[in-house]
Amino acid sequence: MICFSTSLLLAATCLLLSTGVSAEKATTCGAHVHRLSCDTGVISVQTAMYGRADAETCSGGKTPEEIANTQCSLQGAVDTLKARCDGKKVCEVSTSIFSTDPCSDTFKYLETTYTCVAATHLITCEHSMAHLQCGDGQVIFVHGADFGRHDRTTCAYKQPSAHLEDVNCSHPTSKVADRCNGKNNCTVRASSSVLGNSCDGTYKYLELAYTCQNPVAA
Ligand SMILES: *[C@@H]1O[C@H](CO)[C@@H](O)[C@H](O)[C@H]1NC(C)=O
Ligand SMILES: *[C@@H]1O[C@H](CO)[C@@H](O)[C@H](O)[C@H]1NC(C)=O
Repeated sequence: MICFSTSLLLAATCLLLSTGVSAEKATTCGAHVHRLSCDTGVISVQTAMYGRADAETCSGGKTPEEIANTQCSLQGAVDTLKARCDGKKVCEVSTSIFSTDPCSDTFKYLETTYTCVAATHLITCEHSMAHLQCGDGQVIFVHGADFGRHDRTTCAYKQPSAHLEDVNCSHPTSKVADRCNGKNNCTVRASSSVLGNSCDGTYKYLELAYTCQNPVAA
């Protein structure tokens, strides 16, 4: 199981997983698009395998050569998925999100498992401040943050339509987690100067999710 890279976060994240949430599994064949979604809470990607691990999955209509290699798996696929989907309520994935091909002669698929974690889901329009706040004695843990635009209606008030057109503007950022994790409260400006520039000419918003947890003893 992959948790998070620092020991502080490791304990906090694994704690969440042990509370009995069941994982959803999504399999995407070839270039098909699959929607990960959470009715309640937000997505937390647990595992991701891009390649081929058996001869059955996504094998319909394929030649024996295309499914012969069952030891193909892209390194770091889970990080790509986490950056893209963690903290969102809906996330579309397909094998085209990967820029590297781990085995070009093999017909590959993407197998993702994720859980829905109860979290505060926050959307902050560009140039405004995102306020993250936990109760007394608790600390923030950010599950994902993306500064971009994914539809035409969020943060659209009084914006010219040209600023709303690019709905494929995705810019996952770890800057919110870097600033806020482990703190009781935290304020971040949703701006390109803080979060990095992307999609010039688009009016963006910061979408993030966080939970409040008991601090992990050092
Ligand atoms: C956004 O991406 C979706 C699928 O990834 C595609 O169908 C659509 O054409 C794209 N839209 C724009 C405006 O690029
Ligand atoms: C914000 O957190 C700091 C310590 O991290 C604390 O001193 C302060 O009281 C907190 N403010 C609020 C409004 O909770």
